[in-house]
Amino acid sequence: MRRVFMGGLEVPVQGLGCMRITEDVTSADERAAADVVHRALDLGATFLDTADMYGRGRNEGFVGRAVRHRREEAIVCTKFGVVFGAGDDWRIRGDPEYARAACDASLRRLGTDVIDLYYLHRPDPAVPVEETVGAMSALVAAGKVRHIGLSEVTGEELRAAHAVHPVTAVQSQWSLSARGIEAMIPVCAALGVGVVPFSPHGRGLLASVPPAGQPPAHGSSPPGAPAPSLAGALRDVARRHGVRPGQIALSWVQHRAAVWGVPVTPIPGTSDLRHLEENIAAAGIELSGPELARLDSASAGAR
Ligand SMILES: NC(=O)c1ccc[n+]([C@@H]2O[C@H](COP(=O)([O-])OP(=O)(O)OC[C@H]3O[C@@H](n4cnc5c(N)ncnc54)[C@H](OP(=O)(O)O)[C@@H]3O)[C@@H](O)[C@H]2O)c1
Repeated sequence: MRRVFMGGLEVPVQGLGCMRITEDVTSADERAAADVVHRALDLGATFLDTADMYGRGRNEGFVGRAVRHRREEAIVCTKFGVVFGAGDDWRIRGDPEYARAACDASLRRLGTDVIDLYYLHRPDPAVPVEETVGAMSALVAAGKVRHIGLSEVTGEELRAAHAVHPVTAVQSQWSLSARGIEAMIPVCAALGVGVVPFSPHGRGLLASVPPAGQPPAHGSSPPGAPAPSLAGALRDVARRHGVRPGQIALSWVQHRAAVWGVPVTPIPGTSDLRHLEENIAAAGIELSGPELARLDSASAGAR
């Protein structure tokens, strides 16, 4: 797979979102889940995304076990900042003391001595982002973290953070059904910060668009499914390339990022080997100018 540099970190142009693989996995099906990660490594999609909140730490534990014998091949990315209460309630914490403790806990669960890319999951409204990033910078100095990232930040927060320590990547939702991030992409481009689009399949809905000539599953569109004009554009472009509509959705993110010249590595989530292979193949699709324009216009209202 083609690779690009985000700051000093070389990454493949597509990674794997691990969040859904094991949120509720039991030890009996962990082997099948690990097969997905191993196949991703085999195919060069070595950029693995997890977070300490996924499955309340269980997802990090799974990723750590899955890459234990292939640690050098994997780029292990995780996040901190979401703290659960007794029930399902949660809050954001970004104070330096918490950043240090969260990092140590993630290292333990991942079974590694260094995190390749460590994100602040969300800025803490009670703590200036510069303060949190100062603590993350100290984790880099201590050798526990290689690169720093931020998730769901504004352009202003990114500039403030980057002045404290170079930010390698910003992770945000970006797909044909969520384009709000595009307002701050010019800031990423100006600072040389990479972009990691999460939920690039619109949380699965773009991947569920049936190919041309096939009826929608169960005869009707699922709630939140793309508008008919977008679904139609995906189907038409996919038919021309002989691929599935969801692959065109992934390819569109790559092409949109190229318009600004920002390095990008979307992290589609899948727990299915066939879907994984399809998603990775999408990284090789070349869209024409008119195809890109049609997809852009069919998704122009997406926020
Ligand atoms: N920073 C943040 O706040 C944040 C928030 C959300 C997610 N994330 C990260 O982003 C990653 C991806 O996000 P996501 O899982 O929400 O959304 P997504 O990647 O847009 O969609 C995942 C869904 O699409 C389905 N899918 C994937 N490839 C497919 C294919 N080729 N054909 C048909 N269906 C396909 C998957 O089902 P199958 O398993 O059946 O393939 C899954 O249900 C997560 O794993 C996580 O690491 C980060």
